[in-house]
Amino acid sequence: MRPHPDTPSDAGPGLLHVDAGGWGLTWAADGDGRMHQVGLGPDGHLAAAEVDPVWYPDAHPTLGGPDPFRPPALRITHADGTLTTRLRAERVDREPVDHDGTDDPLDEVVTLHTVDDLLPLRVRFRFRTHRASGVLEQWIEVDHDEDGPVILWDYDSLAPALLVGPDARVVQFGGSGWADEWAWTSESLTPGTKVLDSLGGIQPHLQRSPCLLVEPHGPAGEDHGAVLGLSVAWGGNVRFALDVRPRSGQDGRDLRLRAGANPLGAHYVLDPGTTFVTPTVAWTWSDRGRHGVSDRFHRWTRARVLRDPDRTRAVVANNWEATFFDFDEERITGLIRRSADVGAEVFLLDDGWFGTSHPRDDDDAGLGDWDVDRRKLPGGLTALTDAAGDAGIRFGIWVEPEMVNPASELYTEHPDWVIRDRREPREHRNQLALDPLRPEVRDFEVGVVDRTLAAAPATSYVKWDANRPVTDPGTEALATDRRSNAWVDWVHATWSVMERVASAHPDVELMLCASGGGRTDHGTLRWFHEFWTSDNTDPVTRVRMQWACQHFFPASATAAHVTRWGGRPLPFACAVALSGRFGIDLDLRALDDSDLGVLRRAVDCAVRTRPWVQHGTLHRLVSPVDGADRSRAALAFVAPDRSGAVLFAYQLDEPEHPGPVLRLPGLDPDATYRARITDLEHGTDGPEWEGTGSGFAEFLLDWGPTDPTTATIVEVTRR
Ligand code: GLA
Repeated sequence: MRPHPDTPSDAGPGLLHVDAGGWGLTWAADGDGRMHQVGLGPDGHLAAAEVDPVWYPDAHPTLGGPDPFRPPALRITHADGTLTTRLRAERVDREPVDHDGTDDPLDEVVTLHTVDDLLPLRVRFRFRTHRASGVLEQWIEVDHDEDGPVILWDYDSLAPALLVGPDARVVQFGGSGWADEWAWTSESLTPGTKVLDSLGGIQPHLQRSPCLLVEPHGPAGEDHGAVLGLSVAWGGNVRFALDVRPRSGQDGRDLRLRAGANPLGAHYVLDPGTTFVTPTVAWTWSDRGRHGVSDRFHRWTRARVLRDPDRTRAVVANNWEATFFDFDEERITGLIRRSADVGAEVFLLDDGWFGTSHPRDDDDAGLGDWDVDRRKLPGGLTALTDAAGDAGIRFGIWVEPEMVNPASELYTEHPDWVIRDRREPREHRNQLALDPLRPEVRDFEVGVVDRTLAAAPATSYVKWDANRPVTDPGTEALATDRRSNAWVDWVHATWSVMERVASAHPDVELMLCASGGGRTDHGTLRWFHEFWTSDNTDPVTRVRMQWACQHFFPASATAAHVTRWGGRPLPFACAVALSGRFGIDLDLRALDDSDLGVLRRAVDCAVRTRPWVQHGTLHRLVSPVDGADRSRAALAFVAPDRSGAVLFAYQLDEPEHPGPVLRLPGLDPDATYRARITDLEHGTDGPEWEGTGSGFAEFLLDWGPTDPTTATIVEVTRR
């Protein structure tokens, strides 16, 4: 197949060039056929070995490979007990990417085939390009014909080597668990091995996002400096490992960066004739700072990950924070009407609508029993879908198909369906997780969505939740000597359920949720339209979470609802939700006319600005997570055709410095634009002024002194 025209052709088995779009990599074989990384980064795909490739770093270290003193990225015990793996390059294949015509015709899947030189075990290193964005997908596949199973102890998807500067930094995202997603930690890369990982299987990203930034030459800015962005597209435990070695007498350091599924407790027993596929890691290299990384990840997420990326996401009104489990038909139909009245487009009925013999009045009963609770909802779900139809609003519903309360009919009938070992299963949020390795469980989970949608005709939105981790792994579905495979197999089994649901209901929009953002990864997101970013909706915290999260995910996917969390002023809470996929989670009956006015204006603003927010280019302007003054944040979204833009400036805390001048990059430099401040609080016409795109790129407004928990919104349209 055709390589990209700028890419040197692969000469024989020993040379691999991957042009990822603006950057790339080159591997070359030494005299024994071992692959070494001779190029990585901008022009990395154009590199040629200047000395014998043996002097370059091992391309993907194995135990027994050229560099025995580094933690291996691939570590296998072979069927005969051999502990080492030594791979020899066999050939490189190139196939065009088959992806509904949206990709660059030159996009390709490049495969380097290697084989162990002692045992019949093969490893394929695979690369899928998306040159329009510059994001490269990379994974490996292992299979063998040995005399029995082999054990994979480490199976990183990639392991590039980098020469980094003394100020090299890594930015990780993750906090202390529930309601603390996307906490920003930037730190120096010092010698030693730093492992960043997550556990728990079902909602691991509550602990640590599977996304990472590496700044190899020191702190980068939005538009300057080298930045690598990585995302492990895996709905299970992940691991990044950064192995840093000093170089004697030199400033620089050697970094070996490994990324993939977390193999801790999850060694994989692989039978002859079967294939192990690692998660895909999507990564990119920007020489234009962090903006380059997010812009690339947004383009790639839209092109390759998100369902219906061009569909504008609706304004969703949810009842969870308004009612929790305490509602009845009248309360919900009232909320439906009020939601429609303020302009919401979807009403989402959350947890608590089901359970008959074990009514779901709290989180301790009913999960698993997906019949409507007629005490609360005597007219069934159809009474609600009818009410939504009458009010002119779409209907959505919450499900948690993978879980069960012990206090349920499901558990009484099928106590053997849950993930457990021989010990008494430990409850978490009073619930247990079902074992998706059982085919009957997978059918049941698909059926939960099918029957719910059948009971609520015309429902067009489903929130799919998962509210506990795996704490005591065990499964009867695997032989006793294969049970550690479950951590990997559970992810694939769960994905197969999600895939069945998505293909059976192509017109139903799906929101991905796991106690908040516990499943925010590019692997699971393939079957969803958006995710619930976090249960933490305190707008001050949310600004920082959304700031971090939107480095990797476009705003169209990051659901953000206005709530009372933190007791912040309503206009500020609305302004924060407006820079994500806007929604509302308020008791609309409890709002006075003034608050309802704020909300209506916010919905109007969401409808006006969402083409830019959801489909445009994000520019981060003032950072609330690093820099001199973290009391502020400012960001803007510019329409794809540059016809308009919206800028959000948030004052989070007491300012530490005078407000900066705000610039608006990305407009058409020669066009004339009108800027207007949107006043959500009073609805009065804000100040208006005109300027050119090039003028606004220099100066849009002087932020000036503002009070904590206030926001300035500037809408800009081309004249
Ligand atoms: C999780 C979700 C919430 C809500 C509750 C319902 O915590 O993150 O948004 O749906 O479950 O129990």
